[in-house]
Amino acid sequence: MNDQLLERRKKVVPNAIGVFNPATAVMAKGAIVTDISGRQLIDFAGGIGVLNAGHSPKPVVDAIKKQAETLIHTCFNVAMYEKYIELAEKLAEIFPHGENGTKVMITNSGAEAVENAIKIARQATGKSGILCYTGAFHGRSMMAMTLTAKTGNKLGCGPFAGEVYRLDFPNFFRYGRRFKSEKDYVDYEIQKLKDFFLTHADAGNMAAVILELVQGEGGFHVCPPDYLKAVQQICREKNMLLIIDEVQSGFGRTGRWAAYEHYGITPDISTWAKSMGSGMPIGCVIGRAEVMDAARAGTLGGTYLGNPVCCAASLATIRYMEKIGINALGEKVGKTVRRRFEQMQKKMPLAIGHVRGLGAMLAFELVENGDPSVPDATLTKELVNACHEKGLIIISAGTYANVIRVLSPLVIKDSELKRGLDILESELLRLYKMKYDAQ
Ligand SMILES: Cc1ncc(COP(=O)(O)O)c(C=O)c1O
Repeated sequence: MNDQLLERRKKVVPNAIGVFNPATAVMAKGAIVTDISGRQLIDFAGGIGVLNAGHSPKPVVDAIKKQAETLIHTCFNVAMYEKYIELAEKLAEIFPHGENGTKVMITNSGAEAVENAIKIARQATGKSGILCYTGAFHGRSMMAMTLTAKTGNKLGCGPFAGEVYRLDFPNFFRYGRRFKSEKDYVDYEIQKLKDFFLTHADAGNMAAVILELVQGEGGFHVCPPDYLKAVQQICREKNMLLIIDEVQSGFGRTGRWAAYEHYGITPDISTWAKSMGSGMPIGCVIGRAEVMDAARAGTLGGTYLGNPVCCAASLATIRYMEKIGINALGEKVGKTVRRRFEQMQKKMPLAIGHVRGLGAMLAFELVENGDPSVPDATLTKELVNACHEKGLIIISAGTYANVIRVLSPLVIKDSELKRGLDILESELLRLYKMKYDAQ
């Protein structure tokens, strides 16, 4: 059945739309996906970090049904409705951005949130330059794709948007070995950041810095706190805005509503999507009121932005997350996964080069012979496929496609989490023995 569906897919779906995992789905609830042959799979991918509150939570399904029966669409510009305002109020309450009020622009996706964050930052500062990072992923629309780092995600799609500059993300595991300590390496990257304005582009035309505090598609690299502090300081000195992209890290994934809460900072602008709608297409830009209001009339908009059904789904998701204590669940899942990954690293030191992440946004990096500079994408692909055979949906990440990441629903039952981790460990152990015992 699975194979038949794949064949049909090949005929009508462009090849560029990737197959991250060979699974199919006909139904899903909580952390379990039922595939086309009726097999139940444990979901460690969560639709790429969209299902922190689980598959089809009842309050969200009920809210979608009720809203669809009442009002599906008017376009918020044409005839406004309360659900949009209610959602914006809720988001401003959870994510306050500054003392003079917070404003929210609702979008259809993460990429659209990023596009609009950049438009807003440029208008608010009257400058056009944007700084982004190696390892960054911000989406596939034109500005978002320009900001995205991995060349494999953008090959042949240019010319790209102008006035975008790229800095090195402080990735200690891969690039920090020649330094005495992580602190020395971070200091070096901070110096490079400061020098950038002398060696690459003047800050006089720089509008904003955009970064992910835990790089999602880039492989779950966590931004060192001292580095972020330096970025924020430089933004203040040079009249640049700090944009934090929380599309993958938000809504409980790291054990907080926002990853930036771990750092004790508030950005000028932030971007959100994924788990805020439990799978309905919705995202948003949140920012300081005066920054958001710097955008001129006519420059922000879209037919479907803040569609009533998506707003209802998002509101119900957030209320459900509050009720079940999503952040505590994120912390709990994160602790279990981290402990297990660290044990696995001890058992398989030649393959697992690094365990990293924040809260339940956790990953391990697969390398060859324990060497951080030799990524093992082959083993990663084999592991993803082997896990699927055994009933676990898991996906990879990283510039070198050699990072195994966990983005499971945070409502996953302890027994399901354990079973998923057991599959992951036993399959990796099997592949590890095949690879290294022969040597
Ligand atoms: C950090 C980050 N920003 C932006 C995006 C783009 O979001 P979307 O796929 O909803 O356009 C993603 C998607 O993976 C992401 O991880």
